[in-house]
Amino acid sequence: MKVLVTGGAGYIGSHVVRQLLLRGDDVLVADNLSNGHREAAGTACLEVMDLSDNAGFRNLLKTFQPEAVIHFAAFIEVGESMQNPLKYYQNNTANGFTLLAACRDSGVKNFIFSSSAAVYGTPKAVPVPETAPPAPINPYGFSKLFVEQALRDMATSADFRYVALRYFNAAGADPSGEIGESHNPESHLIPLILKAASGEREGIKIFGTDYSTPDGTCVRDYVHVNDLADAHLKALDYLRDGGESRVFNCGYGRGYSVREVVAAVRQVTGKDFSVTEAPRRAGDPAELVADSRELAETLKWKPQFDNLRTIIETAWNWELNRRY
Ligand SMILES: NC(=O)c1ccc[n+]([C@@H]2O[C@H](COP(=O)([O-])OP(=O)(O)OC[C@H]3O[C@@H](n4cnc5c(N)ncnc54)[C@H](O)[C@@H]3O)[C@@H](O)[C@H]2O)c1
Repeated sequence: MKVLVTGGAGYIGSHVVRQLLLRGDDVLVADNLSNGHREAAGTACLEVMDLSDNAGFRNLLKTFQPEAVIHFAAFIEVGESMQNPLKYYQNNTANGFTLLAACRDSGVKNFIFSSSAAVYGTPKAVPVPETAPPAPINPYGFSKLFVEQALRDMATSADFRYVALRYFNAAGADPSGEIGESHNPESHLIPLILKAASGEREGIKIFGTDYSTPDGTCVRDYVHVNDLADAHLKALDYLRDGGESRVFNCGYGRGYSVREVVAAVRQVTGKDFSVTEAPRRAGDPAELVADSRELAETLKWKPQFDNLRTIIETAWNWELNRRY
């Protein structure tokens, strides 16, 4: 298939690009490299361009004529979105709409969108199904939800179908060691703990030890980035085969606490490091775990890396030999 991937030089996008290339798809990456890395796009053709460039995207789409667009490009820091909400509404929502307009004008019919568990805010019950009411608690979550709504409306008004994947916590790295997570600043738990293990950071802080979870720390559903990537390939095939527009959660349905992740990192790496306890951070729900049965049933999604140890081993391998 011919696929345009926005944000394909970023963490999750690069793992999807790699799998698309491996199965022989024709992939074009569009990324402004604000947070991405040229090397991460691998052998895919890379156009360095910004989502806000409507004319540029119209040209690109007209020339390349993709059968589908996968849209990863966005800002991803929840905390920053609280400090600077308009930065998130501009890039994730307004620029997302600009891309959608270019897609409409160029006759793109299939679209896959990176949404987030952040659209649920603090869910009433876990595992959380897609039918739970969206109720974001930060601008990042809203910035994603607005795009979901626009997609829903586009799908009812035009010959256009989409899949929105609400990722829980992406983690791990491709076992080849060629690509992995490289954010600056890094805010995700597993790479932060690994940096403490490697000595790049002095230690780590646990924010909140008095949550109503078994050990008092936050529980998250960590999903290996290659399993996430595979869900995108399956979503592409689903849309190509005429599947209707859908929203799917993407997680394993099992959560690990911060303390459990720290213990697993110590075990995998054999390293010790300091852990300090700090008060809760605003906007962190106690527990976020996905009910992904719809994804498994409808797209026949079968995770291959559903194991915290494997997630940490692949991330550690990347951390020790990172290329960017
Ligand atoms: N990492 C996670 O755990 C997680 C969880 C839920 C949802 N998501 C979503 O998945 C997507 C990818 O996340 P990631 O962790 O790979 O992030 P990332 O920052 O590694 O990748 C995003 C990419 O988009 C590019 N980009 C950003 N703004 C752009 C613009 N205006 N024009 C062109 N390119 C632009 C960046 O340069 C970067 O390469 C994002 O939409 C994010 O919101 C991620």
